[in-house]
Amino acid sequence: MRVPLLDLKPQYEQIKKEVEEAVKKVLCSGYYILGPNVGALEKEIAAYCDTKYAVGVASGTDALRLSLISLGLGKGDEVITTPFTFVATAEVIVQVGARPVFVDIEEETFNIDPAKIEEAITEKTRAIIPVHLYGHPADMKPIMGIAKKYNLRVIEDAAQAMGAEYSLKKAGSIGDAGCLSFFPTKNLGGCGDGGMVLTNNEKTAEKIKALRTHGTKSDYIYSVFGYNSRLDELQAAILRVKLKYLDEWIEMRRQKASLYNELFSSFDIAVKVPFQAPYARHTYCVYTIRTSERERLKEYLGAKGIGTKVYYPLPLHLQRVYEYLDYKKGDFPIAEKASREVLSLPIYPELEKDKIELVVREISNFFLS
Ligand SMILES: Cc1ncc(COP(=O)(O)O)c(C=O)c1O
Repeated sequence: MRVPLLDLKPQYEQIKKEVEEAVKKVLCSGYYILGPNVGALEKEIAAYCDTKYAVGVASGTDALRLSLISLGLGKGDEVITTPFTFVATAEVIVQVGARPVFVDIEEETFNIDPAKIEEAITEKTRAIIPVHLYGHPADMKPIMGIAKKYNLRVIEDAAQAMGAEYSLKKAGSIGDAGCLSFFPTKNLGGCGDGGMVLTNNEKTAEKIKALRTHGTKSDYIYSVFGYNSRLDELQAAILRVKLKYLDEWIEMRRQKASLYNELFSSFDIAVKVPFQAPYARHTYCVYTIRTSERERLKEYLGAKGIGTKVYYPLPLHLQRVYEYLDYKKGDFPIAEKASREVLSLPIYPELEKDKIELVVREISNFFLS
């Protein structure tokens, strides 16, 4: 039996009829860009995440980029973030002309360590981008406290964490802006690229709406430099169908994660299972274990037909593209250790029990051999 890291087909099978009807309706409507589905999805997601506004854009990366621009971040500014994230988090900082400043992560959650943020603040610091990695929220309370003390903006990168909760608040709803990704592998995944910005600030929402359509608020009158970054009407129609099932799917992910955790502890296997902080509702967009035997285990599981992935093998401060920032090996030891030890195992809502049992059995065999 093969166990893929991820299989999107069973989910499609489950909602095929609804999705195909929704797609057909859009095709027949002749309304393909910024039509009624985008507007409706924005309202539905704002309600789901409990924010006043949600603005659909072309990707999670653009959600971050347009958030930074709308909050006035640019040349000469420093933006604090984690080095242990997908590259998009940092690349948008560079693309708006600012400088990424990395802060090490917490050992348990893999998220930015709030206790280390203050020492990274300079007179140029303007914002913090916490990332809710793997679907587990960053510790937002101290982060918001620091932001208030130093008058910094907070942009939450919730690309991997739609539906996750921090003290009962939805990930992405706490900072000045929260960024969602609808990349197909995410908790709420489209059939292509897509993203959304959450905010409680009307001006921010309006600015992002202008930025996503070339900087215009009314036809062919431009007040700012903008982009073409719209969420497709077709994607929005598909996402509206899927949003109805999101909580059920997150619960299914959480059940798979619990089963993994139980099996690992009953087999007494020497791997560290994901941590869930008392303030968190983890969504397990990714189920990530830690082991010092990561490379050998990955190879072993691959040979047995079990898909795994390393998110992420090299922290950003050690990537060639960020050499100019002058960081060196050893600067962020927790992130560096994590990048040597993490291994993500198969997880998706429809993943069968016997497949999870097989994965754990094979990991047990590996450690016994
Ligand atoms: C943490 C993080 N930030 C940002 C992004 C970018 O999202 P997108 O792929 O929709 O541009 C991703 C997507 O993989 C991500 O995982």
